[in-house]
Amino acid sequence: MRPISRRNALIAGGLGTAATVAGGAGLWWSLNSTQQPNGAGGGNRGGAAPVQGAGLHGPAELRSADGRLQLTLDTAPGRVELGGRQTRALCYNGTVPGPTLRLRPGDELSVRLVNGLNEPTNLHVHGLHVSPEDDADNVFRAVLPGQAFDYRYRLPPDHPPGVYWYHPHHHGMVADQIFAGLFGAIIVEDPEVIPVSTERVLVVSDTTLDSAGNIAAVSPMERMAGREGELLLLNGQSNPLLTANPGARERWRIINTCVARYLRLRLDGQQLQLLGMDSGRFPEPETVEELLLAPGNRADLLVTAAAGEAVFHALPYDRGGMPGMMGQVPIGGAGTLATFRVRGSTAAPSDAATPGAVTSRPAQEDLRTAAVAARRQLVLSMGAGQGRRGGGMGGMMRFTINGREYSEARTDTTVAAGTVEEWTLVNTSPMDHPFHLHVWPMQLIEDNGQDVGAVVMRDVVNVRANGRATVRIAFRDFGGRSVYHCHILDHEDLGMMGVIEVR
Ligand code: C2O
Ligand code: CU
Ligand code: CU
Repeated sequence: MRPISRRNALIAGGLGTAATVAGGAGLWWSLNSTQQPNGAGGGNRGGAAPVQGAGLHGPAELRSADGRLQLTLDTAPGRVELGGRQTRALCYNGTVPGPTLRLRPGDELSVRLVNGLNEPTNLHVHGLHVSPEDDADNVFRAVLPGQAFDYRYRLPPDHPPGVYWYHPHHHGMVADQIFAGLFGAIIVEDPEVIPVSTERVLVVSDTTLDSAGNIAAVSPMERMAGREGELLLLNGQSNPLLTANPGARERWRIINTCVARYLRLRLDGQQLQLLGMDSGRFPEPETVEELLLAPGNRADLLVTAAAGEAVFHALPYDRGGMPGMMGQVPIGGAGTLATFRVRGSTAAPSDAATPGAVTSRPAQEDLRTAAVAARRQLVLSMGAGQGRRGGGMGGMMRFTINGREYSEARTDTTVAAGTVEEWTLVNTSPMDHPFHLHVWPMQLIEDNGQDVGAVVMRDVVNVRANGRATVRIAFRDFGGRSVYHCHILDHEDLGMMGVIEVR
């Protein structure tokens, strides 16, 4: 997590690339590709126990001024500490996570992405309601090794405040690059201040290290299941310590950047109020005891501290699996994210703002009463494949949407700009798939036959194993080609993705 220095990290990155060329191998961080997973459980492959109890670090923050934020993101291998161990990971600007970007509605964000890897990458701003075309959130563009690209995103003046994130989106490499450390937070600030004593950006990730401190390679079985790393990390740390005074109210911005792990979160003995998830903000905070974040989801949470020590847990979550996977690869794993220690004198009255001090948000538009221009069904399936990837990958399952694997050249869904559609997401497989649509947020209408009642906006909707979900989407503000996919990013890389064009 703490880099030696950005300059040294870049030098280390250069050496890493050279070593790969000399060795003639593939990705330098997966040289030990013969290692087999050793099943679920704590610890890391062949290494010492992760360091615990260190104070929480946060990523560097970059804030827009006068409606603009301009930055360079250097994508490169680097030496960082992950879970207390020296690691060779992939970094944005030398750190894991990359810097947090703080924006306001109406801002223009300019990012020069510099590719210091030895393979293609690119940049996606997950959840932002911005154009998918040209030099904006265009995932069809590849930035080749040694090249740079200038992205420019314009947030509409009414962009929903909330928690978003950025990560690479070059098809076929997304899971590996995120697993190796490429992700960072984006916050779109509220128009009105919510009084809190502390605001924390909590980026959750998981990865697996080999005995040499490299990011471990994963097996074809782990890809099919969706890999879950042996190290569960919060801002790159293992079980960091968060401290607060009794009565303090904190705001936790939680992002699930894990490739495949679901986070069923609990913090017992503390008062939790959910402000919203993804781009969806409730009019009033909702008291919660437990929170499920599928891969890609975010939560905006208020925590009112009560004296004592609470463990911030991720509990086991049953996301299903194929019969042959069970017991072979880690799936549905639990872990400890952090320890929250509350003691000392009661917070000053100005810190301990009462819940009533949160200004209500105007209710979001309810698409349940909107005129629906088209209804579609998208079927998410896993089926026996013929190992079309050839050599060594025989027996690979096919991951499809409406029977087809992803092809960049094909447009699967064409939508009339400005209309509202209703999509039924059908899962015919024995595993959950978190369905993600770029650019246009979804309103969840029905979840496995249950009416959702309130206005629930999401950009990742979990579709239960052998279950279904119904969403409505307003295709407003932006046209162009983009994608929808399973946010178990191994599944996306294996083909569970489709192309949408709004015109
Ligand atoms: Cu977070 Cu298309 O992805
Ligand atoms: Cu996305
Ligand atoms: Cu999936």
